Order: sequence, then structure tokens, then C-alpha cells
Amino acid sequence: MKDDGQHKQRIALITGGASGIGFAIAKEFVRNNIFTIIISRDPAKLQKAKDELGASCEVISFDLTKFERVPELIERVQSQFGSIDILVNNAGINMKKDFCEVSNEDFQTILQTNVTSVFVISREVVKGMIEKGRGSIINISSMAAQYGIPKVIAYTASKAAIDGMTKAMAVELSPKGIRVNAIAPGFIATDMSAKALNSDSERKHKVLSRTPLGYLGDPSDIAAAALFLGSDSSKYITGVILPVDGGNSIGF
Ligand code: NAI
Repeated sequence: MKDDGQHKQRIALITGGASGIGFAIAKEFVRNNIFTIIISRDPAKLQKAKDELGASCEVISFDLTKFERVPELIERVQSQFGSIDILVNNAGINMKKDFCEVSNEDFQTILQTNVTSVFVISREVVKGMIEKGRGSIINISSMAAQYGIPKVIAYTASKAAIDGMTKAMAVELSPKGIRVNAIAPGFIATDMSAKALNSDSERKHKVLSRTPLGYLGDPSDIAAAALFLGSDSSKYITGVILPVDGGNSIGF
């Protein structure tokens, strides 16, 4: 979909959008007539997403930690499909390990995917948004940045960085017409949370017992919030970190 200024269809870019929360966001965007480009690593999952979402979706196989190749990627995307209206920084990885078992390399791996790649792709997309004088960026944070969770030290550091970056980006970019917000999902039923919870019934019990609504969220719950933050319905909202968590962050 080339944005030639003749049509009004908005264009979204979602990282890690071939599975879990990112795919639910892509589905919701396409359902709401937003042309949606998904960047992810797994060609098979990308093809499945494309098959399900159809003509309003394009998929690109790319490893977001190849930082030096990101500027060329974004230029190519924009000349092929048009300038990006909504960027959802959703791709992320987790690692559950005892504090003393986490190697320097483990720590760096998480930070590179969850923090540095968010900065690099945002910087490149923002250049086009500044030219248009508008845009919406949505970063995906986590409960790990709201309170202490054991055994996820690198993930916690990365999501706390996302919250800080969201505020710093919002104050610098909002005067240029670009709103920047984050969503802090609670515990949402995806492959990532299944890995962390299914083999640890004590942890799962703890999660549910402090979630006032009493159940795990669904990826579509995050998608609904992303649609809101990406649209003009939230035009006076910038710099917020919105928990979508069944009350988990305020649960006793
Ligand atoms: P997921 O593992 O289903 O999806 C993550 C996606 O990111 C995958 O498609 C993966 O291929 C992609 N990805 C990872 N590294 C990449 C790279 N270097 N280049 C390109 N793509 C890459 O996980 P889920 O649960 O959907 O998580 C999505 C986001 O939501 C993450 O940022 C996660 O931290 C966050 N989140 C998830 C929660 C949950 O309960 N599931 C809770 C709080 C936050």
C-alpha cells in the first residue's frame, strides 16, 4: 500500500507481530482498516500471519538485532508502502534464570532485543513521522517494570528502560506531533507466559491470586488498548504507561 496522499488508510508497523500479543494487535488493526506491516524473525509464522490477515497485511522477515541494517529496512518499507503512522514496538524476549546464573552474554542478549532494537527502529521511523508532523508510537512494557519479579533480572532491566524511554521520547517528540505511550500488559496467555508459568505452579498461583479479575488476560485485551492508543481517540494522551493487567499491578 503506497501512501500517495490520495487515500486515508493508515499504515502501522508492528515488530514481533507474527505471534502472541503482536499478532493480536495486527489482527485488530487490519480489522479496523489499518494497513499493517509485521516484522518478525520466523518465516513460517510470518506466512501463517499473512495467510490469515490477507491483503491489508504485509510481512517482513528480519532480525531486529541487526541494527546496522535497520535504516535501509525502514527506507525500503516506506518507499514501498508509504510513511508509517503507527509503530508498535512489541518484539521482546524473556529469560527466567536465578540471578547468579545470568551470564554477561544473557544480559546483553535481552537488552539488545528489548531495548536497543526499540531505540534503533524508533529513531528511523520517527524521521518520517517528523516530516509528516504526526505519528503514534506504542511500546510494550511489562509488570516487571511495575514491581519486583524474581528470576528475570535482565528482562526487568529492559522493561524499566522501556518505561523511561517512553517518557523521554514523549517529551521530546510530542511537540513534533508524535505521541509516545506504553502498554504494560499483565499476565497474558501466550507462548512466552506459558513458558514462564506452566512449569511453575507456585508462580502461576501467585500471579492469579494478586490479579483482582482472577484470570490471565487475552492478547486481544492488549490489542484493544493498542488500537485506542494508535487512534485519534487518544489524541491528548502521551507519555503514559497503561497497565492492561486485570488489576495485577495494584493487587494485594
Ligand atoms: P511471543 O514470544 O509470542 O512474541 C514475541 C515476538 O517477537 C515473536 O514473534 C518473536 O519472533 C519476535 N522477536 C523476538 N526477538 C526478535 C528479533 N530480534 N527480531 C524480530 N522479531 C523478534 O511473546 P508475547 O508474549 O506475545 O510478547 C510480546 C511482547 O509483550 C513482548 O515485548 C513481551 O515482553 C511483552 N509482554 C508479554 C507478557 C505476557 O504475559 N505474554 C506480559 C508482559 C509483557
